[in-house]
Parts: sequence; structure tokens; C-alpha cells
Amino acid sequence: EKGGFDHFMLKEIHEQPKAYRDTMLGRIDESGRKVVLPGLKLSDEKIRSLTSVHVIACGTAYNAGLVGGTAIEQLVRIPVMNDVASEYRYRSPLITPETLVIVVSQSGETADTLAALREAQANGAHVLAITNVVGSSIARDADDVIATLAGPEIAVASTKAYTSQLIAFYLLGLYMAQVRGTQSADDVAHVIAAMHSLPEQVESMLAQADTVKAYAEQIASHEHLFFIGRGLDYSVVQEGSLKLKEISYIHSEAYAAGELKHGTLALIEEGVPVIALATQETVLEKTVSNIKEVKARGADVMAITHEENVPDLLKSVDQALAIPKTLPLLTPALSVVPLQLLAYYAALARGNDVDKPRNLAKSVTVE
Ligand code: F6R
Repeated sequence: EKGGFDHFMLKEIHEQPKAYRDTMLGRIDESGRKVVLPGLKLSDEKIRSLTSVHVIACGTAYNAGLVGGTAIEQLVRIPVMNDVASEYRYRSPLITPETLVIVVSQSGETADTLAALREAQANGAHVLAITNVVGSSIARDADDVIATLAGPEIAVASTKAYTSQLIAFYLLGLYMAQVRGTQSADDVAHVIAAMHSLPEQVESMLAQADTVKAYAEQIASHEHLFFIGRGLDYSVVQEGSLKLKEISYIHSEAYAAGELKHGTLALIEEGVPVIALATQETVLEKTVSNIKEVKARGADVMAITHEENVPDLLKSVDQALAIPKTLPLLTPALSVVPLQLLAYYAALARGNDVDKPRNLAKSVTVE
């Protein structure tokens, strides 16, 4: 049942290339230049009338929504707000019929997410669900569904569902951009072409898992560590940090790199591991300055970046890991993979039950 892997989590990490392909299948037209979303009820007229997008979910699905929200904002140039379902549902959010509410849920059964969906519908919004379970309560009640085709996810720690949710968001963002004319046909085709390369790029990273394993064994003896990043890198480290906490039980915090000096820098002392995700070229230099700030306080820094940046970064960090290059917007679909592996191998090194971490359930159907 685990297909030769020691744990469901590792199997599911390795299923990501297939999950990417399956989630894209049938959603790109024959020319390879256009996204099609068969069965979508959201009309072109409705898409044109939208004034805002709310992205609502819990846990890892929320983290996927952070990347997804940025993708929509960049591609469609429409204001996007992200919130966790347990906050959104109780704070009388400003929802109008011109709001598109996107709920994200692997299981489709998360109680708070379902309640948020109902709150949105009661206020006249069109609710689109991104879910992995087409027969779920959320899929049934939503006005529209974009199914992630990740296949069943057994491990409590979500991996392939998260990355498939990213793919679904990229497709939706491109689709909305086509309708609203915010991206040229060539730009859309360019993103689609890059998306087609993602599965192979993930495979190449999986083939180099040993480097991550060695680093995971180093951090396994620590009780606290930090992740830093800017922009989409910040969104991805939030997922990396959650993954690490839930299965390795190492306390970690993900910080927007520029925010550290506003308080948290006080926690950096000799030998504290800091993992810096530095893939977003427009803010790379800024992230490097933040890396220098933590280095000066004794942090032990691992940078995850593109090959071309490694020589330069190695002047200011202790170790570096290179990931393949894609468009900045798509990079989360690659950069999260070493972070998943890091959590997995750290949990393994600590002798934890990787697939069934303490205190957690796969599907949270109570508030
Ligand atoms: C983390 C994890 C949880 C879920 C969250 C939402 O690895 O699995 O954070 O992501 O409970 O679950 P779904 O997506 O089923 O609504």
C-alpha cells in the first residue's frame, strides 16, 4: 500500500509530479496556450464584475492560499484577501455579490471552512472550492469546484494536496486573466509552458533528497529554528515551518525576512539554525541583508536558492541548496519540496511517527 516507501508521506511527496500532471490534464487547450476550465459555472460576465477575491482555508490549505492569492493578484490585478476560516467566519467579513470567495480544502470536510463557505453564500458571494475530494461536503455546497487530482492523501501532513492546490490556483489565475484581459496571450502561454516543466523539475529534486536528509539530521537535535523569506518565499516558508512543527515537533517560526529586526531578532543566538528561502530575484538582495543580520548574531544559515546565486550566497551563509529555475510565480511549486523532505527526514531522525503525528487528525470536522 505504501508502494515500496517507508511512509505514506514519502510516497505522497514522490507522487507530486503525477499530481501536477493530473491536475493540469484537460485544463489546457490543444494549442497549449490557453487555460480551459470545463464545467466552471463562474461566467465571464461574473468574472469581469468581480471587485475582490477572498481566499479562505485552514492549515496547509491556508498556506497554499497565500501563494494562490499572490498568483491571482499578480495575474488578474484584483485585490485578494487571505484569512483562516476560523477567523473569517466570526468577524463579519465584508462580502458582496462582487466578491469571489475561494475556499481551499484537501478533505472538503473541515468544519470551519464549510462554515466560512456558508457565511459567504449567505452574503451573496459566488463560492469556488478547490478540493481534493469531489464527493465532500464542501464540494457539494460550493457554487463551483476545481478538483485537485492529487489522489487520496493518507499521511496527516499534507504534501501533494498543497502542491496540487498551487497548480489549481495558477490555472484559475490564468483563466481569470484571460477573461479580464490582464495578461497577453503570449504571457499566458509562457506561464503554461513553464508549468509543463514542473513535474520533471520536481523529479530532479527528489533524486537529490540525500542533501536535504543530511541537513535534516543536523537540525534534528535543535529545539528551535527559524525560516525566513520575502514575497512568495515568505508564503512557502510558512508551509515549511508548519510541516516541520507538526511531524518533527521542533519549534519553528516563519518570518518575513524584513520583519525580524522588529523583535524576533532577539531570539537569534549562537548556533540557532535559520533556513533562508531566497528564490525571488526582485528581493534577493534584501533577503541577503537579512541573512547577514542573523549571521552577525551567530545563526547557522542554510540558504535555498537557484544554482546561479549559490556562489554569491555562500559568502554570507554556511550552506546552500540549489533548486531548479522556473518563473518566480511558479517557484513555490518547486521550493516547497525540499522543505517537505526536511520535515520528513527531521521527524525520522527523531524517531517520530511520521504519518500519524501526536494530537493531530487528518480531517478536522469539529470546530
Ligand atoms: C497540515 C495539515 C492541516 C490541514 C488542515 C486543513 O499538514 O494537513 O493543516 O491542511 O487541517 O485541512 P483540509 O485541507 O482538509 O481542509
